[in-house]
Amino acid sequence: MKNINIAVDGPAGAGKSTISRAVAKKLGFIYVDTGAMYRACALYAIENGLEIRYTDAGQRIYLCGRDVSERIREPDVSIGASDIATIPQVRIKLVELQRELARGNNVIMDGRDIGTYVLPDADVKIFLTASVEERARRRFDELKAKAVQTDFEQVRRDMQYRDKNDSEREFAPLRRAEDAVLIDTTELDFDAAVEAVLGAVASSQKRKDMK
Ligand code: DC
Repeated sequence: MKNINIAVDGPAGAGKSTISRAVAKKLGFIYVDTGAMYRACALYAIENGLEIRYTDAGQRIYLCGRDVSERIREPDVSIGASDIATIPQVRIKLVELQRELARGNNVIMDGRDIGTYVLPDADVKIFLTASVEERARRRFDELKAKAVQTDFEQVRRDMQYRDKNDSEREFAPLRRAEDAVLIDTTELDFDAAVEAVLGAVASSQKRKDMK
């Protein structure tokens, strides 16, 4: 039987990864965090002193044998990932890996271009968003909980930089697929957002069954 693929896209801080992880657990799917792949590439670039803009270079991510799962969430790597994600050669390599994972498994995959480019035939497409204030507040709270030194204004500026960079790049920019269900999580708590995604998955499966 064909595997079921769910695509979840949206800007930074909309809740894609926490919500997708919870939905994956409920459905018994694999959660694929594509942002972590771009983050690992960015960390490699940072640590090797590369000028990332001009190079072609959920898992727990191991880079050269080292577990960098926490390190890749820090602010310098967030910006670096958004920058390195503009390089087509990097994207092409990572998209190959992402498509392979989706071919072999039931997955919920989150990112920026999953519904538009990586898996255009995904069974369900979701576009998760929230206001920039709310997304910055959530990210600030997350960083504070991990004792990462930062201030709210800086987090908001970083978020706006990434929004612009991710949606204005030429190759596979952040965009809502025409057939994606839009879910705005600004006013939703975590459980309500998970329910909204599960509801969208159930109704699109129902539509398919009726065909
Ligand atoms: O989802 P995230 O915040 O962990 O992603 C980090 C950066 O990686 C994001 O700002 C843009 C890039 N990215 C991308 O371009 N395409 C994806 N499918 C996932 C992430």
